[in-house]
Amino acid sequence: MIRVRGAGIIGLTVADELLRRGHRVEVVDPDPGRGASYAAAGMLSPAGELWYGESDLLRLGRRSARLWPALAARLGVELRRGTLLAAVDHADLQALERQLDLVARHGERPLPLTRRELLGHEPRLGRVSGGALLPEDHSVDPRAVLAALRRRIPVVSAPSETAAEATVWAVGTRPPAAYRSLVRGVRGEILRLRVGADDLPDRTLRGWVAGEQVYLVPRAGGELVLGATSGEYDAGPVVTVEGVARLLDSARRLMPGLDRAELVEATARDRPGTADNLPLVGPGREGEVLAVGHFRHGVLLAPLTARLVADHLETGYVEAALDPRRFPAVPVAGAGAARHDEGER
Ligand code: GLY
Repeated sequence: MIRVRGAGIIGLTVADELLRRGHRVEVVDPDPGRGASYAAAGMLSPAGELWYGESDLLRLGRRSARLWPALAARLGVELRRGTLLAAVDHADLQALERQLDLVARHGERPLPLTRRELLGHEPRLGRVSGGALLPEDHSVDPRAVLAALRRRIPVVSAPSETAAEATVWAVGTRPPAAYRSLVRGVRGEILRLRVGADDLPDRTLRGWVAGEQVYLVPRAGGELVLGATSGEYDAGPVVTVEGVARLLDSARRLMPGLDRAELVEATARDRPGTADNLPLVGPGREGEVLAVGHFRHGVLLAPLTARLVADHLETGYVEAALDPRRFPAVPVAGAGAARHDEGER
């Protein structure tokens, strides 16, 4: 039996893949689906989220994005296609164009749009100066994904007495003490609005708004997710007045019709960040496999992580860029420890 600790999007997709391959699995989480996955907007957006020096993330993100249509179809969740980029003022347009250059240099094909073309795609936008379409950047609803996975996979709140052949740690920002220094929390605040049918954008919008960035992710049924702030604090995640004000100011400027929307939820969670912003997927101590540290990309990277964890358990394969052993602080198999699974969470 393989024990998976953590029932967020990573733990549950790993468990799903293992079950599909015929393994016996026990998923353990005292509070399933309430970590970073609960806040996630669900953008499958390797190009839109590309940043300087993060080529591996784009390469792996694209690989994982290609697995999403089949996973979404199997789970019966909607995959909403395409992402629009929109700049409000001319300085914003320059920032957006730098993003397009970066994306194009990595072999992606963004479609630049004039102001008029952008408004043709999304007439609900306010005053904008230009933008682009990223046709291969999609989105899913992480809560719908979690619900579909939970219908297939039972989750227990504490480990059973049965000895596990291996333990997979899929616990985001809360790995056991031996690994804790490898993952830091990066707070994100996110809002959920209920929007009338006439005001809901057709696809994900990523805005550059007077020097701020904001994204708006629509869902069937009229929900619009606004995100996200990003900051590192000594304290745990809380929703701040400043965070809410910044998100709402930017979103309203981008789409003035949102003044009519109902604000239904404000959530803060820590994203699990690593020193190089790539997750740790692969071996840890004897009998342990890590699947943590997915930072801004947990939903995107979930199906690839699931495959890599299952491949590792079956064949020993490790994807070099994600190998936890790239950090000397990672305790590894053979370093003296046997089983550490119980009571560490
Ligand atoms: N992936 C979006 C965020 O981390 O805010």
